[in-house]
Amino acid sequence: MERLDKIIANLGYGTRKEVKILCKKGEVLVNGKSVKDSGLKVDPDKDIIQVSGETLNYREFIYLLMNKPDGVVSATFDNYDETVIDLLDEEYKAFEPFPVGRLDKDTVGLLLITNDGELNHKLIAPKNHVDKVYYAEIDKEVTDEDIKKFENRITLDDGYLCMPAKLNILESGENGSCVEITIQEGKFHQVKRMFDAVGKSVVYLRRISFGPLKIDESIEEGKYRELTEEEINILKNL
Ligand code: URA
Repeated sequence: MERLDKIIANLGYGTRKEVKILCKKGEVLVNGKSVKDSGLKVDPDKDIIQVSGETLNYREFIYLLMNKPDGVVSATFDNYDETVIDLLDEEYKAFEPFPVGRLDKDTVGLLLITNDGELNHKLIAPKNHVDKVYYAEIDKEVTDEDIKKFENRITLDDGYLCMPAKLNILESGENGSCVEITIQEGKFHQVKRMFDAVGKSVVYLRRISFGPLKIDESIEEGKYRELTEEEINILKNL
């Protein structure tokens, strides 16, 4: 059972306060009867809720795939910077979603956003070994020696021993390199710190996949789409 005002607000009909006013005005019906108390507990799967003549199609969770742009923080709130949540339409913000894991302010690419805490937990727990693949540009030549070091586990500046990581060199030369790196954990600045540990710097970082999800090239940076039913089921069954 859930509060009527929460259900209606989650569907983008306004804040809970505004929903209260709608109820007072007699605009909200539950099973055909006007309900004045917006705090009434109802069963969203069984009860038929109507607002201003429209029947609600309720869902509890949303799942969005964003192509995160540069300069935006992966948080729900920030005093200074724009957040990935600020980029969402009001209809989605009403569900109080949050990013699954974090990308740095200057990292771009695939970011999942949801309000499903259980799925979030499952996807970010290192023990579940969900692959995250990044495309990275590095300031120096990346070598086969580095591939071995990444495989044999890198130790970060704070002494943390990383899980084995897979490095795939796409291009490498004295002026810099392009690589793909696959990791299964998400420590703070992890990829940047892994390269720091071998004396090299990441100059550009883009996440190109997260578990079975690939970056959707048709989504411009700063835009997003809902996951399909099929994609949601694949993630839940990982
Ligand atoms: N590793 C980093 O260093 N930064 C990110 O944003 C993601 C992984």
